[in-house]
Amino acid sequence: MSITKFTILGIESSCDETAASIYSTDRGVLSNVLFSQIDLHKKFGGVVPEIASRSHLEKINTIIDQALEAASTTIDEIDAIAVTNKPGLPGSLLVGVCFAKAIAYAKNKKIIGVNHLEAHAFSASIDNNIPFPYLCITASGGHTAMYIVRDYGVYETIGNTLDDAAGEAFDKVAKLIHLPYPGGPVIEKLAAETGFKDYFNYPRSKLPTLDFSFSGLKTAVLYDLVKRDAYNLTEKIFLKDSDIDLKKQVASSLLVCITDIFEQKITLALKEYPEVKALAFVGGVACNKYIKNRLTKFATKRSLPFYSPIPAYCTDNAAMVAFVGHYKAQKGEFSDQTVDIF
Ligand code: KG4
Ligand code: ZN
Repeated sequence: MSITKFTILGIESSCDETAASIYSTDRGVLSNVLFSQIDLHKKFGGVVPEIASRSHLEKINTIIDQALEAASTTIDEIDAIAVTNKPGLPGSLLVGVCFAKAIAYAKNKKIIGVNHLEAHAFSASIDNNIPFPYLCITASGGHTAMYIVRDYGVYETIGNTLDDAAGEAFDKVAKLIHLPYPGGPVIEKLAAETGFKDYFNYPRSKLPTLDFSFSGLKTAVLYDLVKRDAYNLTEKIFLKDSDIDLKKQVASSLLVCITDIFEQKITLALKEYPEVKALAFVGGVACNKYIKNRLTKFATKRSLPFYSPIPAYCTDNAAMVAFVGHYKAQKGEFSDQTVDIF
């Protein structure tokens, strides 16, 4: 296939990160700029959609300018604008999509709508030549899913979140025991202080399919806390805020349990898809070093190479959006001004 050279501006605003990135055929990721709204949402224990969309509006212009500047380029030198157009918070997605359409119209640029989950699924390919087909497990705050990735842009979803995502389980349990948002990083830190022991043996999913369900796990943690006189169900109050050891034990037991569930699901998937040549782990939860270590060992035992993106490409970012935009541009898969968020 002949290679056409493109420089792509990627824009991401599906949830609580306003991000822009420049990707070029010759030099890969030239810049990756991001404004995280975590501090705005922290006091609410989760993302507040209205606050998120307002903040995107305030920041998007500056973030795009910074991405262009960091890449030493200008909007005139960009060939196409790739923008996350689904799935995500409607008000947040609209900011990125409307902005992308406006620049594309004013500057006569091509536009490419990018699915946020496809962007996560290929995020480990930004810096690696992963052999196809590979099994990709995405775990973020909004989604947990498994894919068989057969080529760039060619993939099948083989398992999905039925209720809460893995990241959501970390966030909700963290809220339950009065740990700050987002829960994942602080749970990892507390779990490390126990040496990653499984104290409470929370139930592992019994689902015999490739789908994920984490809402039962959160409820199991809640009732276990009630049993230990650590939570008042009527008043919805955590009663052991000063008991740091209990928090560490909950954090560690949860992390080990979720990792076991990932291994169970990957084992099932590998049985169904023996043609898989590699394992990739992506999404915000893939920042977790304990899970990455366990999955690396798991893959090595099965003679599969293991890939996970650098942390900046795990959590929401625009580099993965520009990367998908780039291979779509190579294939001539452009959108137009009718690109929408549904
Ligand atoms: O991919 P992401 O930035 O946003 C979504 O698309 O949802 O993922 C955010 C999620 C949050 O739920 C956060 O708790 C989780 O990723 N996370 C982690 C870690 N760092 C972030 N979970 C476990 N361990 C971590 N170190
Ligand atoms: Zn995401």
